Amino acid sequence: MGIKSPVGFLDSGIGGLTISSEVIRLLPGENIIYYGDNAHFPYGPRLQWEVRDFALRIIDYLVNECDAKYIVVACNTASVAAIDVASEVFSVPIIGPITEGAKEAVQSSKNQKIGLIATEGTVSSQGYQNAIYKLNPDAEVVAHATPKLVDIVEKGQLSDLETEGILREYLTPFINTGCDSLILGCTHFPFLMETIKKVIEGKMNVIFPGTEIAERIKRDLADTGLLNPDKKGDEIYLTSQLSNVSKDFLKIGRERLGMNLDFQELNLFE
Ligand code: DGL
Repeated sequence: MGIKSPVGFLDSGIGGLTISSEVIRLLPGENIIYYGDNAHFPYGPRLQWEVRDFALRIIDYLVNECDAKYIVVACNTASVAAIDVASEVFSVPIIGPITEGAKEAVQSSKNQKIGLIATEGTVSSQGYQNAIYKLNPDAEVVAHATPKLVDIVEKGQLSDLETEGILREYLTPFINTGCDSLILGCTHFPFLMETIKKVIEGKMNVIFPGTEIAERIKRDLADTGLLNPDKKGDEIYLTSQLSNVSKDFLKIGRERLGMNLDFQELNLFE
């Protein structure tokens, strides 16, 4: 492993691009390998042990076959299911959105009443809740699973009336209970940012820790002498099942993130 070794990303699909795009923006010299497990998408409603097994297999591939120097679990559901175990098994640093998201929420919330929207798996794991309570035992977390949001983003419905209605239904209870901050605890949700902001009318600060994750990776790589000073790194995009990659979502990813995405199929689960 060395400076030119890649930073490895994994997600249940292509939602994790909301995080990898931030890393590419801040660290353009790094080589990137992104693995989306579209064959098993979505992870949200799956059992924790199942998601953990998938994530461990992908991390094993990224570390042992691709020589990754740093792993980003760019999926909230997989982070809560697998990061603790993976950190014991593998010797490279492994991070996900939970710790950075919790930190940002606690730092920015004035009344420490923090809302969380995420998949069923992330909410029921209590991963975010515990991370927040660890930072401030007096904080209050209001958490609701919002399963319809992943579907609407996959279908590319980011701002139509149906989406606005669903968001209003999901987000009004957070405003009514006095939350001043809302964590987007799912990789898909930043694509809904404009409509979310329209619905909540400035009543909550919206948190998605993409930039914070990228900054933390930069610090960690610099501290260990592994920051790649190149001008432009290589980007490799892999998926366990190409036919399961939503065309609409891929189009949005290309347009909104300004990324040149070309996914190749590599099934690690045969
Ligand atoms: N990537 C997942 C997450 O951030 C959302 C999609 C899924 O359910 O797999 O939790």
